[in-house]
Amino acid sequence: MKEKYISIKEALEKKKGKVSLRGWVYRERKFKDKVFIVLRDHSGIIQTVIHKDKVSEKEWEQAERILIESSVKLHGELVEDPRAPGGVELRVEKFELVHLAEPFPITKDKSKEYLYDKRHLWLRSRYLTSILKIRSTVFRAIREYFWSKGFYEFHSPSLTPGVAEEGPTLFEVNYFGKKLYLTQTWQLYAEAAIFALEKIFTIAPSFRAERSKTSRHLAEYWHAEVEVAWMNMDELMDLAEEMIKHVIREVLKHHREDLEFLGRDPKDLEKVLKKKWPRITYDEALEILEKKGMKVPWGKDLRTIEEDKLMEDFDTPVFVTHYPKEIMAFYKPRDPKNPKVARCFDLIAPEGYGELIGGSERDENIDELIKALKKAGEKIENYEFYLDTRRYGSIPHSGFGMGVERLISWICKLETIRDAIPFPRTMTRHKP
Ligand code: 4AD
Ligand code: MG
Repeated sequence: MKEKYISIKEALEKKKGKVSLRGWVYRERKFKDKVFIVLRDHSGIIQTVIHKDKVSEKEWEQAERILIESSVKLHGELVEDPRAPGGVELRVEKFELVHLAEPFPITKDKSKEYLYDKRHLWLRSRYLTSILKIRSTVFRAIREYFWSKGFYEFHSPSLTPGVAEEGPTLFEVNYFGKKLYLTQTWQLYAEAAIFALEKIFTIAPSFRAERSKTSRHLAEYWHAEVEVAWMNMDELMDLAEEMIKHVIREVLKHHREDLEFLGRDPKDLEKVLKKKWPRITYDEALEILEKKGMKVPWGKDLRTIEEDKLMEDFDTPVFVTHYPKEIMAFYKPRDPKNPKVARCFDLIAPEGYGELIGGSERDENIDELIKALKKAGEKIENYEFYLDTRRYGSIPHSGFGMGVERLISWICKLETIRDAIPFPRTMTRHKP
């Protein structure tokens, strides 16, 4: 008969009775006639005890030699014990060794870089497990939100012939002797697809050859993007705010303990849910900065230090809108009310987590697009497919992109974005 195993979380809730558990040895302590094993599985940890006279001789020999991270199956009786973590202990009646681990290379005193080298093993830590669980909920909640709003999930190629955002951060790929690039955004393809599907989203990897070693930049990150027919910028900001609030609500619903373990007070996030997030223009942002002693000449983009300074005054994310047209990507349209600025926004996170989202309306005017592309030094023939979208039933539309790891970093209050993704890729790290 097939054994029925329950999770450690279920065992802690059950508190008594005979159960079978399986997992890995998180801690062990050996005495003359008993061995304590703290067992770990995906759901938690539980204390177990093996008495020499309660198991066979062979089982006892194996238990005595056990090392951490060995895999085991334990069968026995649950007993309430206030001294045990979680208040419940498993008294083992049958001990099955699945695999005796070699001495585990990760010990307390290891450096950060060593932990990144051993990332495949470090994933088992409570720290990364908590983040990975939250990450899974974040992805689910993003999809859930867009599906509930009638969006289709759409996929664009990862290998692309042209630039959509910034030339200097493109990764080149040798494609059968031709030069292609890893995608930075799905946007140009998404703009073609809304003529079929109208409301679309994706979550997919984007690539940026970032030379900066910051706590906010990855070379490969997961990009949640939307593109919506007929939508204007104000509606798009509503969508972005609602989507992130939905994600935060889901994380709060399922991961309070994980958040607390990571040092994020759930109350900080609850506060963010209650408020409407401010919308200020680029010009207003410059005024705030000037009052705080930081003078930014009009026409310059806001850098990290300026964003951080600006956000000192806010405890929710803030939309900064209407950046100078000249420094924006070619597809961002001029504002008819003030042609010096574009109809675009960034959503900036509080607490120094930087830009979560970049979004805009899209220029419908084909002549303006061609002018902007030429100014950026682009070859028009590479964009013919894109320009076709403006030749056959062009419509107003808009879209945004969110760095999912940026959102996770902020929600989990992480020191670095590298821990928001299982196997980070940065300028200095591409292994394992
Ligand atoms: O602001 P960006 O460059 O905008 C676009 O790519 C648009 N085409 C998106 C769209 O409208 N569909 O990038 C969008 C977001 C940023 O706000 C940031 O959160 C994230 O992508 N991002 C990064 N995240 C991690 N590491 C990096 N190197 C990132 N670069 C951008
Ligand atoms: Mg941006």
